Amino acid sequence: MCGIFGIVTQSKDLPVAKLIREGLQRLEYRGYDSAGIVMISDHKLHLKKDAGRINDINAKLHFDEMPGLIGMGHTRWATHGPPIAKNAHPHLDCTGKIAVIHNGILENFQQLRKELSARGHIFKSDTDTEAVSHLVEELIKKGLNLREAALEAIKCCEGAFGLVICAADHPDSIIVARRESPLVIGIDKARGAIYAASDIPAFLPLTRTALILNDNEMAELKPDQVDIYDLLTDKPVKRDSYEVEWSIDAAEKGGYPYFMLKELHEVPAKVKAQIHIPQSDIDAFAKAIIGASHFYITAAGTAYHACLAGKALFARFAKIFVKPILCSEFRDELRDCMKPNSVVIAVSQSGETLDTLEAVRYAREKYNAKVCSVVNVVGSSLTRYSDHVIITTAGPEIAVASQKAYNTQVSALCLIALRIAELQGQMPVDVSQKYREALNGVPAVLEKIRTEHEQKIKKLAEKYAKKPNFYFLARGASVAAAAEGALKFKEISYSHTEAYAAGESKHGPIALIVKDFPVIFVAPPDDTYERLIGNIMEMKARGATIIATVAEYDEKITELATDTIRIPHPKDEYYVNLSPLMYTYPLQIFAYYAAVHNGHDPDKPRNLAKSVTVK
Ligand code: G6P
Repeated sequence: MCGIFGIVTQSKDLPVAKLIREGLQRLEYRGYDSAGIVMISDHKLHLKKDAGRINDINAKLHFDEMPGLIGMGHTRWATHGPPIAKNAHPHLDCTGKIAVIHNGILENFQQLRKELSARGHIFKSDTDTEAVSHLVEELIKKGLNLREAALEAIKCCEGAFGLVICAADHPDSIIVARRESPLVIGIDKARGAIYAASDIPAFLPLTRTALILNDNEMAELKPDQVDIYDLLTDKPVKRDSYEVEWSIDAAEKGGYPYFMLKELHEVPAKVKAQIHIPQSDIDAFAKAIIGASHFYITAAGTAYHACLAGKALFARFAKIFVKPILCSEFRDELRDCMKPNSVVIAVSQSGETLDTLEAVRYAREKYNAKVCSVVNVVGSSLTRYSDHVIITTAGPEIAVASQKAYNTQVSALCLIALRIAELQGQMPVDVSQKYREALNGVPAVLEKIRTEHEQKIKKLAEKYAKKPNFYFLARGASVAAAAEGALKFKEISYSHTEAYAAGESKHGPIALIVKDFPVIFVAPPDDTYERLIGNIMEMKARGATIIATVAEYDEKITELATDTIRIPHPKDEYYVNLSPLMYTYPLQIFAYYAAVHNGHDPDKPRNLAKSVTVK
């Protein structure tokens, strides 16, 4: 949450403020309540900031015209203080010569503000961040240089931070530091520039050479040099750069009206890439799980729904019961009862969701559990806390509402479950061969949904877009698709949606059913199909409008439903058992078109942000 982007260069022909503004726009998925940029020029700070989205602020304030070769910007997801202009970052000290941008939460901010106010500092915002600029101001007055002052200031701070600090009187460098909030450094030899950002897409069109900053590290960035230090010992740290594999255009809309549509269209190719990751990655992961006695799977939001699909796939193929736990509930749910020899599978797009990190840290530190992660971002914090990692092949996901990441996560979990079954000899070779063939055929099914069914799904979405309430019901392995379909619709189209195990719907939800209440059933022709028909009849009897996601060859439920979304997979039990990989995608498309029809920006849903780095 909150996007940070700083640039240090000596190249006079680089439009630095414009590049910062563009980089921030690529980070807007992290928050879009307010934005601001500060530049150093002529030993002065030049600051522009306001509430609102970067495009609108830029139209008023013209960020691109700001002078200077060193600067930094911020796009905010409000925590401390409402989303108004004075709380927009950067925040200055009393002299107006020191500027700070921050992602995270300083837990002792009240104490710091009190102490600094008592010493005569005047606060202009309600934020926790501003305390840091006043602390640095005091320390520079005592004669410390910018890096020393930043280090001492950070020692006073408790909580999580990705910080970038610059000062008018130190015009050759900026200081960055992190603890529990992400920060990555980009090295652009071609342009003679160094970047600091909350996430790689900020600088992806400029360079693919990156340096990871670990927790409790700071760095001084100069135009041609990066010096990293350990925050706890102040000792220099050596770090090699690495090449990011994501393609440079992955962080651009490429002619699409929204990132979400671009990313939805990428799903078939991304799932195909996931299915073809090296066998050795899958084997190492699968063997780590086989060795354990107790199994948990944890994540937040959409990634949690991938865990629900994973649970079903592990039960179906590997005959292992994996307990899904929301990462924010992990510690409370497992208090004193995690068993020895447990494995925790953590699933995350960003690898930076703080609740997910806390869950795995708790499991590791308190119970010595093994951590196996399915993560989209190479080098993210979660990869560093994990014993085994599978990197998903989604590439950068910019739309706040996750979709291609979900599909690759479920595909990865399916690969692992199948591999465990093979390694444990639970599946005859010819059966596993059939599953492999069906798995290889899944991307073509997804591609057909995209090319041949998307317009039908769009029409359906427009028909129902204005409905204020929806139920999404399913049984067994499809409960994950129902949950994800409901979440997607809720978060971008703003209708009230609830997902339920269909059998449970008669224990309460059915009380709300009146004539024309839309109920979406996820109904692959698996062993839940006949029982699901009973639930459809119960809803129909009370006047509900039935919309069903069914196989293309379906007849029975099609007869009962008002509308159907049809999944073009072959009539084959192996495909049917892989339904979690195919039945969610059309519901993501459905939500997208409903949101657009209702006039909402699906890339930036109200109040939400991606990469949730607060508890
Ligand atoms: C937020 C995002 C979701 C994401 C969830 C977990 O809610 O909007 O798209 O699924 O966080 O994030 P992670 O990065 O851990 O997958």
